[in-house]
Amino acid sequence: MARTRTGEWTTAQMPAMDDWTVVVTGANSGLGYEATRAFARKGAHVVMACRNEERGEDAKRRIRTGEAGGSHRGSLEVAELDLADLASVRSFADEFRDAHDELHVLCNNAGVMAIPRRETADGFEMQFGVNHLGHFALTGLLLDRLRETPGESRVVTQSSGAHERGDIDFEDLHHEQSYDEWEAYAQSKLANVLFAYELQRRLDDAELDVTSVACHPGYAATNLQRRGPEMTGSTVRLWAMKAANALLAQSAEDGALPLLYAASAPEIEGGEYVGPGGLMNMRGPPAVQQSSDVSYDRERAERLWAVSEDLTGVTYDLERSMTAE
Ligand SMILES: NC(=O)c1ccc[n+]([C@@H]2O[C@H](COP(=O)([O-])OP(=O)(O)OC[C@H]3O[C@@H](n4cnc5c(N)ncnc54)[C@H](OP(=O)(O)O)[C@@H]3O)[C@@H](O)[C@H]2O)c1
Repeated sequence: MARTRTGEWTTAQMPAMDDWTVVVTGANSGLGYEATRAFARKGAHVVMACRNEERGEDAKRRIRTGEAGGSHRGSLEVAELDLADLASVRSFADEFRDAHDELHVLCNNAGVMAIPRRETADGFEMQFGVNHLGHFALTGLLLDRLRETPGESRVVTQSSGAHERGDIDFEDLHHEQSYDEWEAYAQSKLANVLFAYELQRRLDDAELDVTSVACHPGYAATNLQRRGPEMTGSTVRLWAMKAANALLAQSAEDGALPLLYAASAPEIEGGEYVGPGGLMNMRGPPAVQQSSDVSYDRERAERLWAVSEDLTGVTYDLERSMTAE
């Protein structure tokens, strides 16, 4: 059952972020782009982590020139990050850590949905690799900056209502034996929620002032729905997606609200799940919600964590800091 604690929350309620550094993955398009605009309006320095630098620079230009509407007083930086390649994740993290001492908010937002089976550079099924494993590695590699940031810092991981139809197939994680594009998407989005909750439990154990929150946008009109049909060349599915987006979806700007609320509202607590609180949790102002029963399963979460460490080679530095002793 949705619970809106703030009434009609809007970006006007976001705090000033003048000394904040924020990383948004997938910042050139859709929800990541809208979130970037909102953070910049509040004065944040936003690192726009994009797999294609040209598209990133174009998005930055649109925000800076006000072409997309509104002005901003923050600053923007484009950095290359391909979540489908662990070498790229490592070099993004190295460059970020060289240039920045603090990280207030990490938005694990980028994603792909229901695409034909492809593999990442490291041989992972693409949706699991990009949506979950790439972000798992990125978060672990940036954890030192999150923990060194004075005050609370946050990790917000973008899931989807589709996680409710998912499970983790530990026997065939990369769907080599059989592949269904929607099943693989649902698995990757369940992995996002399991990861966000497990991270919070581990942060609590280490008594670190870093908060992990999961969110989902409901249904928003973005480029997400086009990628699958474009890759298969299915014009019928492409038109169906376009029609559904036009008739049923909320705007990308509204779809970004749960992520922005999760990233900035002081009342948000670690391990919560935020999504639109209106019609069928598909639209409306952000609210704290329940995710699927399976997403609260600690055994699955711990197993997924171990497998993710193994596959990515990234382990988290969750030793208690001296100040927490
Ligand atoms: N829109 C919805 O209704 C909806 C519903 C539920 C959940 N979501 C979630 O919301 C998130 C954002 O999606 P969106 O709707 O904003 O879609 P979008 O407009 O397609 O944006 C997705 C972003 O992810 C980036 N990306 C894709 N593969 C990447 C990779 N290998 N490395 C780095 N970045 C990569 C894309 O880059 P390019 O532009 O270069 O492709 C793009 O910037 C996703 O996690 C999605 O699962 C969306």
